[in-house]
Amino acid sequence: MDKEQLAELEQQAREVLAGNDRGGFTVPAANLYPHQWLWDSCFIAIGLRHVDLERAKAELKSLLRGQWSNGMLPNIIFSGGERRHIDLWRSWISPYAPDDVATSGITQPPMLAEAVYQIGQKMKLPERRGWYKEMLPALIDYHRWLYNDRDPHQQGLVLLLHPYECGLDNTPPWISELRKHSLPGWIRLIEKFRLSGFINLFRRDTKHVPPGQRMSNVEALAYWSALRRLRRKAYNSEALLPRALFAVEDLAFNCILIRASKRLKQIAKTAGHSLPPELTEAMNRSENALAQLWDDVHGEYFSRSFVSHKLIEESTIATLLPLYSGVIPPDRVARLVDLLKRQRMFSSRWPVPSVPLNSPHFDPEKYWQGPSWVNTNWLIINGLKQYGYEAEAAILKERTLKMVAKSGMYEYFNPLNGHPAGAASFSWTAALTIDLIHQ
Ligand code: GLC
Repeated sequence: MDKEQLAELEQQAREVLAGNDRGGFTVPAANLYPHQWLWDSCFIAIGLRHVDLERAKAELKSLLRGQWSNGMLPNIIFSGGERRHIDLWRSWISPYAPDDVATSGITQPPMLAEAVYQIGQKMKLPERRGWYKEMLPALIDYHRWLYNDRDPHQQGLVLLLHPYECGLDNTPPWISELRKHSLPGWIRLIEKFRLSGFINLFRRDTKHVPPGQRMSNVEALAYWSALRRLRRKAYNSEALLPRALFAVEDLAFNCILIRASKRLKQIAKTAGHSLPPELTEAMNRSENALAQLWDDVHGEYFSRSFVSHKLIEESTIATLLPLYSGVIPPDRVARLVDLLKRQRMFSSRWPVPSVPLNSPHFDPEKYWQGPSWVNTNWLIINGLKQYGYEAEAAILKERTLKMVAKSGMYEYFNPLNGHPAGAASFSWTAALTIDLIHQ
């Protein structure tokens, strides 16, 4: 793309972000997602730093309004008006939830340290030091919570208790875990007798986006029931875990956490602050533990069930995210780059599909079961670069920008024909487009 086209694209992206700005924080998309989401705001801030550094800082600081006193950062901070969601989550049932703001009771991929770091890179050293010092206590509390609460046996991999926590909501490994262990009998009956149509009355997303582009009614119902189970225990993992049927050491989440820990160490160093020794130990343990998710037979990393300790052998976009973690050996890096280039796997015309083209789950327009997403492309580009695969990173960047230029700032894209899908004017697509243009 030439300079003029890129300038035009950046202008469109800036307009999307301005339109979704709610004064101090940004919603992912006006109608479909009217609240603040955790990893969305991190991606948004990474793009906003090229537009307005103060506004980018405000985006991240506004996330701390929702931080629980045990350190947890919730995946959603609700803005007023939408009572239905607030009443669904009822964060006030937990003694740790903040009093003055309603939130969800679960987290999302820990992108905050990366976003804080990237924003700091736009500053001169004294200012950067101040910014890192300001954000460090919240980051330390959050990372401590992840290990204390979600790595109960101190094995180095954190577990997730709800698929929304992994950010890739209906990704196949979670769906297969759900089907195997945790689909309540009444939902099975609804499915068997094809009665799930009534759920459309209660679904908000399918009023804004064609149902074929969202998760199925049975999946939505199952996720709602998993949420109720968490709510019954007031989001207390210690109380939940002995009875949990549904706990996953998620590959994407752990890769992002490992990378975030490296960023946290860099942030602390620049701020002249030492991290608590037990946190450093936990972070180092994670780096080594990722190897436990490698499967020699398939030559891939997978998520693992915390309960059965078995790998969940489903390839997805997470397969490529160990590249972003930055801690895998060169032969495995080469293997993942090979999968990225394989026609039957991830090399679609408009990459990178969220499940491989040859997967039985592949559906080009269904949410996290096929479409290409700009945030995962951004993570892969970043990963390729850190391992010196500059040419591959440049190709993926170019294709990503062309896809957005062709189809608009949508939530996701059909990997076969590049058609847009999901919500229009989607914030992280806009923000990461800006960041890619500036890279
Ligand atoms: C969807 C995505 C999730 C994102 C949210 C808001 O639920 O799966 O990752 O954070 O939308 O954009």
